[in-house]
Amino acid sequence: MGDRSTDRTTTRTSLEERVAKERGRPRTSTVLWEGVQRLLADAAAAPGAGELTVVDLGGGTGGLAVRVAALGHRVVVVDPSPDALAALERRTVEAGLSDRVRALQGDATDLAAVLEPGRADVLLCHGVLEVVDDPRAALRAAHDALRPGGRLSLLVAQWPASVLARVLSGHLDQALHVLSDADHRWSGHDPLRRRFDRASATALAQGAGFTVTAVEGTRTFSDVVPSTRTESDADVELLRRLEALASTSPELLGLAGHLHLHATR
Ligand SMILES: C[S@@+](CC[C@H](N)C(=O)[O-])C[C@H]1O[C@@H](n2cnc3c(N)ncnc32)[C@H](O)[C@@H]1O
Repeated sequence: MGDRSTDRTTTRTSLEERVAKERGRPRTSTVLWEGVQRLLADAAAAPGAGELTVVDLGGGTGGLAVRVAALGHRVVVVDPSPDALAALERRTVEAGLSDRVRALQGDATDLAAVLEPGRADVLLCHGVLEVVDDPRAALRAAHDALRPGGRLSLLVAQWPASVLARVLSGHLDQALHVLSDADHRWSGHDPLRRRFDRASATALAQGAGFTVTAVEGTRTFSDVVPSTRTESDADVELLRRLEALASTSPELLGLAGHLHLHATR
């Protein structure tokens, strides 16, 4: 899939993830995981909320779902891929969380066929709007799956970071394509069908009926830092601190590889 040297959205394993994997740490970006935990904590603090029902739409093999379930929530993963769901089921068994994670084969645009509308407390939609046929319809379905006041955690790939990563790696033709293409793809072979920026992602969420409450950047530096600078624990800690500070800096938001939107139905 794609150009491993330059794609910082899906195909390239970020340095932060690689370092984390080698050291047996979770692969989800620390900044993202902290953002997800804050969103869950906010949802759990709502009057009358107890154990949360969390839907992970396009949750894939369930890396995030299992971590959320380990916090004590019930998670329903909806994904059209039988292979991904089979991997998810193996993962939940290994984690001893089969009773808290349910796998449903389904499509974002037909969510009501597998999930009762208006019941989810939190809906995670990470890395999905980039690949579906109709991102507007997918977000409307996400909206309808949530109870009024429910929370959306939306993660989307951001195009300016893709331009920068391609320039830094010398792929100037691809950088130009990302910059000028209406969907911000680097070529017709790009595995992503589109990339977003703060304005387009916010407008999409608002158009589906959400109120956006926060926008944070993730993976601002992890994919462009030289690998020689993430060999020691001290370097990894420095990178973590850089990512954390960059995530809420308005000036650096445009450089983040992904945007994490917190929104409310
Ligand atoms: C890039 S992966 C993201 C997986 C996971 N959410 C994560 O953040 O690691 C995209 C996921 O979207 C799923 N997907 C593709 N088309 C979909 C659709 N129409 N509705 C729901 N999920 C879809 C894929 O099967 C895949 O698991």
